[in-house]
Amino acid sequence: MTETSAALHVLVLAAGKGTRMKSSRPKVLHAIGGLPLISHVLRTAAALDPVSILVVVGHEAERVEAAVAGMPRVRCIRQEPQLGTGHAVLQSEPQLAGCPGTLLLLSGDVPLLRAETLQALARHHAARDAAATVLTTELGDPTGYGRIVREHGRMARIVEERDASPEERAIREVNTGVYAFDLAPLFGALRQIATGNSQGEYYLPDLVEIYRRRGAPVETLGVADPEEVRGVNTQAELAAMGTRIRAARVAALMASGVTVVDPVTTYVDVESEVGPDTVLQPNVYLEGRTRIGTGCEIHAGTRVVDSTVEDGAVLLNHCVVTQAHVGPGAIVGPFARLRPETVLGPAAHVGNFVELKKTTLGRGSKANHLTYLGDATIGEGVNIGAGTITCNYDGVLKHRTVIEDEAFIGSDSQLVAPVRIGRGAYVGAGSSITRDVPPDALAVARADQVIKEGWAARRRAERKK
Ligand code: UD1
Ligand code: CA
Repeated sequence: MTETSAALHVLVLAAGKGTRMKSSRPKVLHAIGGLPLISHVLRTAAALDPVSILVVVGHEAERVEAAVAGMPRVRCIRQEPQLGTGHAVLQSEPQLAGCPGTLLLLSGDVPLLRAETLQALARHHAARDAAATVLTTELGDPTGYGRIVREHGRMARIVEERDASPEERAIREVNTGVYAFDLAPLFGALRQIATGNSQGEYYLPDLVEIYRRRGAPVETLGVADPEEVRGVNTQAELAAMGTRIRAARVAALMASGVTVVDPVTTYVDVESEVGPDTVLQPNVYLEGRTRIGTGCEIHAGTRVVDSTVEDGAVLLNHCVVTQAHVGPGAIVGPFARLRPETVLGPAAHVGNFVELKKTTLGRGSKANHLTYLGDATIGEGVNIGAGTITCNYDGVLKHRTVIEDEAFIGSDSQLVAPVRIGRGAYVGAGSSITRDVPPDALAVARADQVIKEGWAARRRAERKK
């Protein structure tokens, strides 16, 4: 369709306080699916490839600006004070006046709206050559929404709940708060909005009547599924929407070949990915930008945040993995913790009650029990005995430990960094290693054993007296 090729701009309203959330956090910064509400809306906006994406901010403007700062092409506009939705749109005049084309207006608190629906709105708007097109839907319970008042089948005006007559309140077709506007007449018309309503605010929906009086065409487009255009106003609605977005994410993963044992307790953020033939057991949390490969197993109770897990790796029960990289075929847990900048090589093993931080564990190397490895570079085929600890912190500075390929660290050893264990060297169990160990050497750094024959028997005899 040639009509849709008109330049498209997107404006997102996010200046309101969100009073009903009863939270010090601005409403649009509350998160579902691992992303703030506003980020869901901006991702959808970006999918339309518009000329510009503008966000109207006001309440806690700095926090909202900081949250969207990283997003490409997004610019913020301040609305101070916040005098209503009509006033909010007017703030974009310096950026948009004189631009030809269509403005899509979105709400920062309506996160499930799909790009396809917005494309349909833009097409409908262009095909009818409308001054404004309102996205509407029918609700079983329309309480709180602006009602679409029709005369002879055509939309005549929108009336807010507070200003509606009992007959108007019975109308179930509502304003979703999403619109397409022709930019040319928009700012002139916005200036005609008055504040003669129960809240004394500039109501954007009043544009409908203003355009109708001018004889400018005003259209509607209905959305079949009201869930898609639902806004978040309360904590309960936030949680309900989080559940919905999670179910959708898990359903999409299952459709792509992931085995999800219990979809209800499986949490996968919208920006996390999982490859086919991976099994997700109950109570698994995949957060942020996590990438899980194919054929992996993520066992119950494990949480992975902003990490990469390569093909065929197994995370056993109750692991916490944060900003780490798990190589192909590696086995981790149960009860292991991989902290930021940990890199496990292919087929490496990390067992129970083992913590790694800023540590590389090479191909096939093992640290299977009760160990802390921090700021360490560990080669291939290394065995780290139970209870080994890298003493990486001297109270002021962090120091590195290097363990070369095929080295063997006996159980309950302390490696006091900076220190290097050479290739193929052995460290005797219970050693406190403070100096470098050359390749292929044995280092034993513990007190010699003392034997006192008969000592225990003599002690027992003493006690009986
Ligand atoms: C608005 C519509 C209503 C519609 C409903 C859909 C008006 C007057 N009413 O009502 O017809 O059914 O949305 O959800 O528009 N905002 C600003 N600046 C302001 C005021 C609001 O940026 O000065 C932003 C809010 O942050 C929010 C959006 O505009 O993102 C909607 O404002 P809100 O107060 O939630 O409007 P509703 O009462 O829900
Ligand atoms: Ca609202």
